[in-house]
Amino acid sequence: MNIKALWSILAAGFCVVLTTQAVQAAGNEQEGKKKFYTCGGCHSIEGYSNAYPNYHVPRLGGQQQNAVLSALQAYKTGDRKHGSQPQNNSMQGNADGWSDADLADIAAYVAIKKLSTESNVITGNPSKGKEKTSMCAGCHGDDGNVLDKDGKLLNQESPRLAGQHEDYLIKALKGYKKGVRKNPIMNGMAEMLSEDEIKDISAFYASQKGLTTISD
Ligand code: HEC
Ligand code: HEC
Repeated sequence: MNIKALWSILAAGFCVVLTTQAVQAAGNEQEGKKKFYTCGGCHSIEGYSNAYPNYHVPRLGGQQQNAVLSALQAYKTGDRKHGSQPQNNSMQGNADGWSDADLADIAAYVAIKKLSTESNVITGNPSKGKEKTSMCAGCHGDDGNVLDKDGKLLNQESPRLAGQHEDYLIKALKGYKKGVRKNPIMNGMAEMLSEDEIKDISAFYASQKGLTTISD
């Protein structure tokens, strides 16, 4: 065997090792499915709402894996608050009990769900909202699915907004605007939006084909 052939075998082996590690770090979907049962009481019931304030629990089916993982880690450390009252902060309790590897499994499971069109309550004006989304599209994609014109993923960090509940999107954007939900990029973005723009933009994304309620 010449050196070149030997090198290509070694290189191939090296790639396999790298890929296997990447898969482990990315989480195990089947394990995630088992762990998700604790989440279903809120996230698998279509139309389930959080009380005080009242808004729909976010849809998770098809959400970006990294966005889910970073949200869960932020709840766990307390960086992201779910509600202002301790008794109203259930996401922290839900993320608390799991290791980072468990959270990665759950994120992997959530992300494999197919995007679809589910009914959504729309109160704002979607076409007015779309006109305001040019500065969002570079990260969230034209329709909020984080895809470019060829259907390729734009980035792995921006959450999908398409198909999300309108009232949850409004709550998230108002949270960034007030600074109660912290993210340097999104705080700056939301600051520039009026309350009406927030409503219409949320209506636009909510009316697109996208995230689903995980039911199995
Ligand atoms: C008691 C109800 C409840 C349970 C149980 C629950 N969640 Fe949540 N979850 C919520 C609510 C309400 C929000 C929105 C909170 C906010 O506005 O930050 C949320 C937000 C999230 C988000 C952020 C979504 C986004 O778009 O940023 C993720 C991810 C999430 N939950 C995953 C989970 C996982 C995984 C579990 C199980 C380990 C779980 N949740 C259990 C009610 C619940
Ligand atoms: C430079 C990239 C970038 C731009 C531009 C941007 N976003 Fe974001 N957006 C993000 C990232 C990253 C997050 C996740 C932040 C976090 O962890 O809280 C996010 C989060 C959000 C969320 C919360 C989603 C959820 O599931 O909780 C909403 C809603 C949102 N963005 C709407 C918008 C709108 C509307 C615009 C335009 C006015 C916009 N974004 C512009 C990167 C961007």
